[in-house]
Amino acid sequence: MAIERTLSIIKPDGLEKGVIGKIISRFEEKGLKPVAIRLQQLSQKEAEGFYAVHKARPFFKDLVQFMISGPVVLMVLEGENAVLGNRDIMGATNPAQAAAGTIRKDFATSIDKNTVHGSDSLENAKNEIAYFFRETEIQPYPYQK
Ligand code: CMP
Repeated sequence: MAIERTLSIIKPDGLEKGVIGKIISRFEEKGLKPVAIRLQQLSQKEAEGFYAVHKARPFFKDLVQFMISGPVVLMVLEGENAVLGNRDIMGATNPAQAAAGTIRKDFATSIDKNTVHGSDSLENAKNEIAYFFRETEIQPYPYQK
C-alpha cells in the first residue's frame, strides 16, 4: 500500500469537549502520523472557501457558522492508506450511523457537531492540505512502520 497524506480537522466540539489528545492517539495507534498540526480560529471566508463544494446544500450556512464558533485543529496525517484509513477511524458522517469504536460514535453528538473532518479522496486530500498548509510547514519524520 502507498504512503498517503490526508487532511484532518478536529472541529470546535472536539476542542470544547477537550478530546484533542484522545483523537490524535487514535490516529497514532493506527499508524497515521501527524506531520503538520496547527490550532486555528477560522474566519468565515476561510470556512466558506474550504467547504465551497457544499455551497448549494441546505446545511452550508450552519456548517460554516459551526466551524467558526471556536478554534479547530488542522492536521496533515501521513501513513499507509491514510485517506481511507482516516475515514475508517472517524466513522460515518452521521454519528448515529457510525460504527462502534470510531471517533464520531464515541465523541460526536450530531451530523453537524461531528467532531472531525477528513478528506474523502486522494485528490481532495491534496487540495485540502494545500488550502491550509504550505509544503514547508509539513514535517515528514522517519518513523513509518
Ligand atoms: P464533514 O466531513 O466536515 O463535511 C461536510 C459537513 O457537513 C459534514 O462533515 C457534516 O458535519 C455537515 N453536514 C450537515 N448535514 C449534512 C448532510 N445532510 N450530509 C452531509 N454532511 C452534512
